[in-house]
Amino acid sequence: MAGDVPYTASIQLLEEPRLLKLKKTFVSKFKSTPKFYARAPGRVNLIGEHIDYCGYAVLPMAIEQDILIAAEPLSIPVIHLANTNSSYLDFSTNANDIEINRTKPLWHNYFLCGFKGIKEHCSLDCPSGMNCLIEGTIPPSSGLSSSSALVCCAGLATLMANGKSLPKVELAELCSKSERYIGTEGGGMDQSICFLAEKGTAKLIEFNPLKATDVRLPEGAAFVIANSCVAMNKAATSHFNIRVMECRLATKLLAKSKGLDWKATTKLQDVQVKLKLSLEEMLAVVEEVFHPEPYSIEEIGGNLGISLKELRAEILSQNTQDVTTFKLYQRAKHVYSEAARVLQFKKICTEAPDDAVQLLGDLMNQSHASCKDLYECSCPELNQLVDICLQFGAVGSRLTGAGWGGCTVSMVPMDKLEKFLANVKEAYYKNSDHMLALEENSLFATNPGGGAMIFLEA
Ligand code: GLA
Repeated sequence: MAGDVPYTASIQLLEEPRLLKLKKTFVSKFKSTPKFYARAPGRVNLIGEHIDYCGYAVLPMAIEQDILIAAEPLSIPVIHLANTNSSYLDFSTNANDIEINRTKPLWHNYFLCGFKGIKEHCSLDCPSGMNCLIEGTIPPSSGLSSSSALVCCAGLATLMANGKSLPKVELAELCSKSERYIGTEGGGMDQSICFLAEKGTAKLIEFNPLKATDVRLPEGAAFVIANSCVAMNKAATSHFNIRVMECRLATKLLAKSKGLDWKATTKLQDVQVKLKLSLEEMLAVVEEVFHPEPYSIEEIGGNLGISLKELRAEILSQNTQDVTTFKLYQRAKHVYSEAARVLQFKKICTEAPDDAVQLLGDLMNQSHASCKDLYECSCPELNQLVDICLQFGAVGSRLTGAGWGGCTVSMVPMDKLEKFLANVKEAYYKNSDHMLALEENSLFATNPGGGAMIFLEA
């Protein structure tokens, strides 16, 4: 069981030059030595986009890029944060007086989410203060989950600094909740894979209860991440939360139309479970219940028999209060079909038929089309990048993560990998707009990495 795998290891810093370097910078910054190091990886989602917050399973893997924190607990209740990247400014606060800025969140707010999550979960009346030096190698705003990795890493470091320990599953769940302090209504995929990842295997992540199952990827193919170089910070815009709200409203209307207790039904998966239908049957229900034209907020309120005031107060998030139209048909259709694709992907990986690579590639392509056309979470650059990747030999290519920018993930047969990388570099990055990005490692093949860890000096 993944929850039982320990996340604390002893390490000779000399054998880990990166930790040693971080230690040196810490010493010169804080004039004392770190007592431990916390590491939390980013992730790439192979398939299952925007369905975790609807209750459905997703299929990500951890990547090598990560957030690393060198930490020292303090006897006074003060948190000092510094970052090796000088564009992220130092920050200090009282550990008993945490304020998280939701409107324009700066980097340290993600740390504070993790800190606050542990403080509340473990009922720490007087949490330990901390000196922390943070280093990140996950490109920010790229759909590779740099913000969740920071939340998880901060949570893990806070836990350790306060002499506590928790099972990984519990940590994952509490970090998923605590990232919502920033205002985004994420579903839990990022924090779950961050803690539950294991080297060498992708994971099927199921929710309620949270569970991670190994998914062995086919040997003949590589997964390549390519950054579109369009930055997407999901906390800084309302794109993400609008989709979460559209799914929530679609849930309510479906439930109401089928005579269920709509107030008690919150996720699209709940509707399926309550109606005892297959995903295919749910797609037929979507066709029957919804019209493809966008719904006005008045129509939704009328349908549910509640006032607009009530609808806004009880269903919509803070940053979607002004939205007046919602696409319910398209969003629900994406969710139920994407949920089915995840299960097919897992099945193909398990059964490993001869044409597994082709079949998985087809599913990835269908997923991208659905994200682009039904969920409308792509952008022209991502679509162009997907086309280029397919043109140069990928069997499947799709946006990964929240979308509206960030990265694509492509499945490329091993024997084509080298040429693929060279050609994509030429076709996408050598055009002047994306030139700079090349130096920052925007195109790379990746293998499933391990989950979050604490390192103690041996
Ligand atoms: C973000 C969220 C996740 C998930 C993805 C889209 O990464 O944090 O919970 O919803 O977007 O699949």
